Amino acid sequence: MTVEPAYDFSGLGFEPGQAAVVSGAASGIGRSVAGILARSGVSVLAWDINADKLEALAQDLASAKGTVMCRRVDTSVDAEIDRAWQDVAGMEIQYLVNNAGPPSTTPMSVSDGVRQAVGGYAAMTEAFLGAHATEAASVVFTASIAGNLRVDATPDWYPAAKAGVVGYSRHLAVKLRGRPRVNAVAPGGTVTERTAGAFAAPANVERFAKYPMGRHGQPWEVATAICYLLSPAASFINGVLLPVEGASTWSSNS
Ligand SMILES: NC(=O)c1ccc[n+]([C@@H]2O[C@H](COP(=O)([O-])OP(=O)(O)OC[C@H]3O[C@@H](n4cnc5c(N)ncnc54)[C@H](O)[C@@H]3O)[C@@H](O)[C@H]2O)c1
Repeated sequence: MTVEPAYDFSGLGFEPGQAAVVSGAASGIGRSVAGILARSGVSVLAWDINADKLEALAQDLASAKGTVMCRRVDTSVDAEIDRAWQDVAGMEIQYLVNNAGPPSTTPMSVSDGVRQAVGGYAAMTEAFLGAHATEAASVVFTASIAGNLRVDATPDWYPAAKAGVVGYSRHLAVKLRGRPRVNAVAPGGTVTERTAGAFAAPANVERFAKYPMGRHGQPWEVATAICYLLSPAASFINGVLLPVEGASTWSSNS
């Protein structure tokens, strides 16, 4: 399964005229989320640090039902986040997908990693809640199996940050009482442009073959979970961490 299906989730309650901010939308999981939402009629504000890939995304989704508005935003910089939200202050935005994140292989101190990952998601969420959250709103965070469902050979900051992301999402789910709902997904190994090289290495091919489903995930398989949790169809799901890892964290072979 290597060709991305053109999923349209409009049957899950997304309505034309609704809008979503998706961070890290230019690549991988976030790109697939942007595609599903735009095909479902939702206007997508695609925010990413990579301007060239945003341009390609806008071209690819030019004929989708929902419009795609791309903006270069570094979600690890509070001032950039503030400016981006100020510029859409008059717009009603129902959905937020906090997904941008530095690669797990980036060398960083724990304090820098937690500040960028948890702090970035928090600054985005606070700005959304302050000006945009409506009765229909919902929020999804991309976390990871790392730090939550298993311990991986990553730099120390990554599991610390991803566990922090989940704790923060659960806290908001209770504190905000579902207005909006806040959920998280925990992807396992997911092949993207960035991970493709490493995943093709013989040791990794062998590792994934031992997984219960005999393979790693595809970005759209995580994106469908995100878009379901985001949608009105998930109206009583709040504060969950949904693993999207093909049962790999249950298997002693993985
Ligand atoms: N791929 C995996 O195996 C895997 C596993 C678990 C969790 N995740 C998480 O999934 C999320 C998406 O990652 P992906 O695998 O799709 O990777 P990806 O590299 O394909 O996409 C990440 C996108 O985020 C953008 N980005 C990075 N830092 C940013 C910043 N400071 N501001 C704005 N945009 C920024 C990048 O430019 C890129 O377009 C990340 O939070 C990652 O930690 C990925």
